[in-house]
Amino acid sequence: MNLLEIKNLHTYFETKRGLIKAVYGVNLAIEKGKTLGVVGESGSGKSQTAMSILKLFEKNQKIYEGEIIFDGEHVENMNNKQMEHIRGNEISMIFQEPMTSLNPVFTVERQLNEAFMLHQDMTKAEATAESLKMLELVKIPNPEVVIKQYPFELSGGMNQRVMIAMALACKPKLLIADEPTTALDVTIQAQILKLMNDLKRDLGTSIMFITHDLGVINQMADDVAVMYCGQVVEIAPVSYIFKEGTTKYSHPYTEGLLKSIPSVTSDKNQRLETIPGSVPHPLDIPPGCRFAARCPYATQKCIDEMPEIKKVSDVQEIRCHYPEKGVRSNGR
Ligand SMILES: Nc1ncnc2c1ncn2[C@@H]1O[C@H](COP(=O)(O)OP(=O)(O)OP(=O)(O)O)[C@@H](O)[C@H]1O
Ligand SMILES: [Mg+2]
Repeated sequence: MNLLEIKNLHTYFETKRGLIKAVYGVNLAIEKGKTLGVVGESGSGKSQTAMSILKLFEKNQKIYEGEIIFDGEHVENMNNKQMEHIRGNEISMIFQEPMTSLNPVFTVERQLNEAFMLHQDMTKAEATAESLKMLELVKIPNPEVVIKQYPFELSGGMNQRVMIAMALACKPKLLIADEPTTALDVTIQAQILKLMNDLKRDLGTSIMFITHDLGVINQMADDVAVMYCGQVVEIAPVSYIFKEGTTKYSHPYTEGLLKSIPSVTSDKNQRLETIPGSVPHPLDIPPGCRFAARCPYATQKCIDEMPEIKKVSDVQEIRCHYPEKGVRSNGR
C-alpha cells in the first residue's frame, strides 16, 4: 500500500530570466512503513520535490501540473489551512542544518512542548512528560538536563537528535529527511542513521531519505529514486541498484553514480571514476534526454527525443531509450 504517490509533478520558479523547471515530470511512490531513498547530484530537484509535498514554496514558485496523493488525499489542491494540518500532524521534515528548525532563543523544552500543546491539546506538565519521552526515544543522555538547555549549549549531533524528536513528536505518517546527516562526523552520522532505522521499525513511520551519498542510501533505503536534472530517471528496490546482475536493466546515470562510490571489495589503489561533464544549466535544458551529453551510450535518438519513464519490470522503472544493459551502443 502506498502512503505517498507523486504523479507527473511539475514545480517551477518564475524568474526574470525565465521559468526554472526545478521538478519536471516526477513520478514516485513511498510504501507504508518503508524508506524511499532519493539520490542525485546537486541541483537534480531532490529538495524541491520534498518541498512540493509540503508546499513549502517561495513566492515565485508553484505546482504547474501533476498530482501528490498522500494517504488517499490530493495535496496539490489543498489550501493553506489544510496544509498546516498536514505539516503539523501527518508529515514532518528534518533538514541538514538543525538550526533551520530550532529556535536559538528558546529551550529544548519550550520547543518540544509546543508540538504537544498546539497540536495535541496538552497541559504544560503533560507536554513536558511527553517531551522527555521523546528525548529518551532519540537516545539523548540525561534528558532532564538537556530539556532545560538552549540549542547553542548542545553539540551538532545533539541538536540533530532534538530536531528528530521534534519531527516525531506529532507521530507523523511520513518523515522527510533532507540530507539529515551530511554536516555530522561519521560516528555521529552512523548513530543518527541507526536511530532513524529503529524509529521506522518501532513506529512504522515511512521515510523519504534525501542524500547525495549512495553509501547512506544502501544502509537506509528499501527503494531508491535516482534523480537527474528535475526528473526521476530510475526507481527500483535498493538491491537492484546495488547488486550488479540482479537485473538486466539500469539507467546509465545510476551506473555512473555507482562507479563514483568507494566499494569495500574494490582495490584500494583503484581510482574512483566521476561522471564526465556537468549538469545542464536550469535555463538551458536540452530537448532530448537530459543525460545524453554525459552518457557513454547516447545515440542521435537520445539527443533528439526525451525518453519517457517506463516500467521494465513490476518493480523497476527507467527513463532511457536503451534501458537494457548489454544491448546499448558503445557510444560515439
Ligand atoms: N529559490 C530558487 N529560485 C530559483 N531556482 C531555484 C531555487 N531553489 C532551487 N532552484 C532550482 O531548482 C533546481 C533543483 O534544486 P534542488 O534544491 O531541489 O536540488 P537538490 O537536488 O536538492 O540539490 P542539492 O543536492 O544541492 O541539495 C535547481 O536547478 C535550482 O537551481
Ligand atoms: Mg537539496
